[in-house]
Amino acid sequence: MSLRMLGLLILVFLLHDVVSFCTDNPLVLDPPKVIRQYGEEAIVNCTSTDIIPAEMYWTNEMNEKVAEVEEYLHYVLWKVSLSDWNVKARCNISLNEHDKCSKDLEITIYKNPDTVTVSAVTHGPVMEGETYKLRCDIINVAPVQNLTVRWYKDHQIIKTDFFTNKTKTPVNESSTLTVNISKRENGVQFKCEALMDIGPPTPVTSNTHSVSVHYAPELNNQTADLYVREGNDVPLTCEAEGEPSPSFYWTCDGMTMSESTNSLIIPQVNTSATYTCTATNYLGNITKQIHIHVIRNTMTSPATTMTSLVASKPKSCLITLMPPKLVVRFGDQVSVNCTTSATNISEMGWEASVGATGMKNSSWVTWMVEKLIYWTVQPMCFVNLENGVQCFESPAITVYKNPDTVTVSAVTHGPVMEGETYKLRCDIINVAPVQNLTVRWYKDHQIIKTDFFTNKTKTPVNESSTLTVNISRRENGVQFKCEALMDFGPPTPVTSNTHSVSVHYAPELNNQTADLYVREGNDVPLTCEAEGKPSPSFYWTCDGMTMSESTNSLIIPQVNTSATYTCTATNYLGNITKQIHIHMIKNLVPKGPEPVPTTTSAPYTADAHGEPNKTVSAVPWWLILLSIICILLAILVVIVTIAYKNSKKRGQYSFINNNIPLSKFEDAKA
Ligand SMILES: *[C@@H]1O[C@H](CO)[C@@H](O)[C@H](O)[C@H]1NC(C)=O
Ligand SMILES: *[C@@H]1O[C@H](CO)[C@@H](O)[C@H](O)[C@H]1NC(C)=O
Ligand SMILES: *[C@@H]1O[C@H](CO)[C@@H](O)[C@H](O)[C@H]1NC(C)=O
Ligand SMILES: *[C@@H]1O[C@H](CO)[C@@H](O)[C@H](O)[C@H]1NC(C)=O
Ligand SMILES: *[C@@H]1O[C@H](CO)[C@@H](O)[C@H](O)[C@H]1NC(C)=O
Ligand SMILES: *[C@@H]1O[C@H](CO)[C@@H](O)[C@H](O)[C@H]1NC(C)=O
Ligand SMILES: *[C@@H]1O[C@H](CO)[C@@H](O)[C@H](O)[C@H]1NC(C)=O
Ligand SMILES: *[C@@H]1O[C@H](CO)[C@@H](O)[C@H](O)[C@H]1NC(C)=O
Ligand SMILES: *[C@@H]1O[C@H](CO)[C@@H](O)[C@H](O)[C@H]1NC(C)=O
Ligand SMILES: *[C@@H]1O[C@H](CO)[C@@H](O)[C@H](O)[C@H]1NC(C)=O
Ligand SMILES: *[C@@H]1O[C@H](CO)[C@@H](O)[C@H](O)[C@H]1NC(C)=O
Ligand SMILES: *[C@@H]1O[C@H](CO)[C@@H](O)[C@H](O)[C@H]1NC(C)=O
Repeated sequence: MSLRMLGLLILVFLLHDVVSFCTDNPLVLDPPKVIRQYGEEAIVNCTSTDIIPAEMYWTNEMNEKVAEVEEYLHYVLWKVSLSDWNVKARCNISLNEHDKCSKDLEITIYKNPDTVTVSAVTHGPVMEGETYKLRCDIINVAPVQNLTVRWYKDHQIIKTDFFTNKTKTPVNESSTLTVNISKRENGVQFKCEALMDIGPPTPVTSNTHSVSVHYAPELNNQTADLYVREGNDVPLTCEAEGEPSPSFYWTCDGMTMSESTNSLIIPQVNTSATYTCTATNYLGNITKQIHIHVIRNTMTSPATTMTSLVASKPKSCLITLMPPKLVVRFGDQVSVNCTTSATNISEMGWEASVGATGMKNSSWVTWMVEKLIYWTVQPMCFVNLENGVQCFESPAITVYKNPDTVTVSAVTHGPVMEGETYKLRCDIINVAPVQNLTVRWYKDHQIIKTDFFTNKTKTPVNESSTLTVNISRRENGVQFKCEALMDFGPPTPVTSNTHSVSVHYAPELNNQTADLYVREGNDVPLTCEAEGKPSPSFYWTCDGMTMSESTNSLIIPQVNTSATYTCTATNYLGNITKQIHIHMIKNLVPKGPEPVPTTTSAPYTADAHGEPNKTVSAVPWWLILLSIICILLAILVVIVTIAYKNSKKRGQYSFINNNIPLSKFEDAKA
C-alpha cells in the first residue's frame, strides 16, 4: 500500500498537468492484437509501463470490469473468450479521479467456411459456343474481406475472387464463373476453393463439376479413296465424333443399306462404288464418302491375299517416281516416270483418272498428260510381283493457277477524315491452290502487311485480304497496292492497281499572327498560306469590316493608317484565322532632293518582335552632332578673337601672366 502511495506521490509531482498523463499512454497490451479463430480463448496482459496505478482493469463490450489489478502488481491479465462476434476488450487505468487513461485491444475473429459448393447456374445440356455459368457458394465464413476464392479448371487456376463487404460476422457468399464452352471443355472438371488470409492456411475445396458439351457429329476426313483388288473384303469406317454419340446409316451408290454401325465390311468387292456414311445426332449430321476403286486382277493368280487392301501400304516397294513431287500449272504438260528395281516383276502400270497406261511388262512406265486440266489428280503406279505382292506409289501433284486479276478498293466510302481508320480490300480472282498464295500489301514502296490463306480447297477461288490503316495527314496522297504471289514456280507476282488516299482536314496555318512595319504610302501584299483539304476558301476583314476579296493574298495600296487585317480560311471541316497587324511609319523627312533609301514597295516583313529599320527615323543623329560641333567652333573663334584684342591693349603684362587667361579659356573650351 505504501509503495502504491509512493508511486502516486511521484506521479502527482511529475504529472500535475492532467493532459500530459494520457498523451504518453502508459499502457502496453500483450499481445498488441488478437487474431483467433471463432470459439477459441486468448490471454491478454495489460501492463502499466512506469507506475503502479491506483486502479487498473479490463472492461468488456458492456463496459463491465472483468479483471482488476492485484496489489503490488503493475499488470492485469484477462482470459477473453472469442465465442462472441462482438467481443471487445479495453484496459483502463486511473491514478485519481482526473488522471485516467485507457487502451483498446484490437480483436479479429475469423471462421473458415463450413462448406464450399460448385453448381451450374445454366441448366440443361451445354452447346458448343455457348457461355456457361457456374456458381461457388461459400457458407458461413467471417470476415469475408479476408476470403479468397479460387476457381480451378482441371488443375489450373483460372479465376480468383475477393470480397469487399466489411461485415465482421459470418456470411454466405458466392462467386460466379463464366466460361465459353468449346468441344475441348467436354469432360473438363471445374471446382473452387475458399481460403482465408488469416490464420494457418486451411483451404476448403468444393466438389468437382464436370461439363458435358453437346455438339454435332464431326469427321476428320470427309472423303476417302480406296484402291482395292477385285474379290477382296474391304473394311469401311466412319469415325465420327459427337455428343450425344451419333447414330450412323450407310448408302451404296445412293441405295440405303441396312447397317447402322460406324464400321462395316464389304465382302469380295467386284465393282467400283461410292459408299456414304451419315453420322447424326439431335444437333446435326455429317456425311463421309468412300470411293472404292476396284483393280482388276489381270493376272491369273487364283488366291490373292485377303487383305491386300491398297489403302494400307506395303513396306518395301522398290518403286522410284521421277519426280516424286511436282507442281504443274493448270493446262501444262505433266509426266512422271515410274521405275522399279525389283527383279521378279510380273507387270506394272499407272492407274489414273487421266493418262492411265494399263499394265505392262516393263521395268518402267511413264504417266503423261499433254494438257492437265484437272485440279485434283492422284495417279498411282502399281507394280505386281511374280509372288503376288502388289506395290504402289503415288506422286504428290500440286496444280496451280496464278490469279487472273488483283484489285485494291476501299471498303470505307466517302472522304477520309484525319484520325479515322481506313479499310482497303485486295481481291484476288481465280487462284489455286489458295493455301500457297501470299498477298503483300505495299504502302508506297514498303511492304506493310503479308497475308496467307488456310483454306485447303484445291480448285480456283476468289479470295480477299483487308488492310486497316490509321489515317493521318501524312497518308495524304500515299499509294497503296497489293501483290499476289504463289509460293512456287518462277516468281510471277500479280500486282494490283494503286490506290491513293485523299485525307480531308480543316485548314491550318503556320503562323496565326504577323506584324508588318510599312512606310506611309507604300503598297503592302498580304498572304494567308492556309493548307486544308478540300482547299479552303478565304475571306478578309479590315479592322472588323468585311472586305470583298476572296483570294488567299491581296495587296493594300498606298497605306495611310495602321490597321489589323484578318484572313479566315474555311472548309467544311472548320476554319482558322490569321491576323496581320500593319504598323504605318510616317514619313518625317519631306520627300525632296534626298531620295528615301531602300524600301519602296517591299513591306518590312520583320518578325513579330523585330524593330523597324533605323534609316526610317526622322533626323539622323550625325546631323545633330555636326551642328553642335559647328556652334562650339563658332563660340571658340569669337572668344579667341576677344582675348587677342585684350592682350594687345595691355602689352606690359609678363608672358607668364598672360598665360593665365589662356588656360582659363582652355577650361571653358573643354
Ligand atoms: C505481463 O506483462 C508483464 C510486463 O511485461 C510481465 O512482467 C508479466 O510476466 C506478464 N504476465 C504474463 C502472465 O505474461
Ligand atoms: C474506461 O475508460 C473509458 C474512456 O477511456 C470510459 O469511457 C469507460 O467508462 C471506462 N470504463 C470504466 C468501467 O470505468
Ligand atoms: C483482412 O483484409 C483486410 C482488407 O483486405 C486487410 O486490410 C487485412 O490486413 C486482412 N487481415 C489479415 C490478417 O490479413
Ligand atoms: C455485407 O453483408 C451483409 C450481410 O450479408 C449485408 O447486410 C450488407 O448489406 C453487406 N454490405 C455491403 C456493403 O455489401
Ligand atoms: C447461410 O446459409 C446457411 C445454409 O444455407 C443458413 O443456415 C444460414 O442461415 C445462412 N447464413 C446467413 C448469414 O445468411
Ligand atoms: C485424314 O487425311 C489426312 C491426309 O489427307 C491423313 O493424314 C489422316 O491420317 C487422315 N485421317 C484419318 C482419320 O483418316
Ligand atoms: C442433315 O443436315 C441437313 C442440314 O445440315 C438437313 O437438311 C438434313 O435433313 C439432315 N439429314 C438428316 C438425316 O438428319
Ligand atoms: C524412265 O526411267 C528409265 C530408267 O531410269 C529410263 O530408261 C527411261 O528413259 C525414263 N523414261 C522417261 C520418259 O524419262
Ligand atoms: C503449299 O502450301 C502448303 C501449306 O502451307 C505447304 O505445305 C506446301 O508445301 C506448299 N506447296 C508448295 C509446293 O510449296
Ligand atoms: C474454302 O473455300 C471454299 C470455296 O470458297 C468454301 O466453300 C469452303 O467453305 C472454304 N473452306 C474453309 C475451311 O474455309
Ligand atoms: C512563322 O514564324 C516563325 C517564327 O515565329 C518563322 O521562323 C517562320 O518563318 C514563319 N513562317 C512563315 C511561313 O511565315
Ligand atoms: C469557325 O469555327 C468556329 C468553331 O471552331 C465556329 O464557331 C465559327 O462559326 C466558324 N466560322 C465560320 C465562318 O465558319
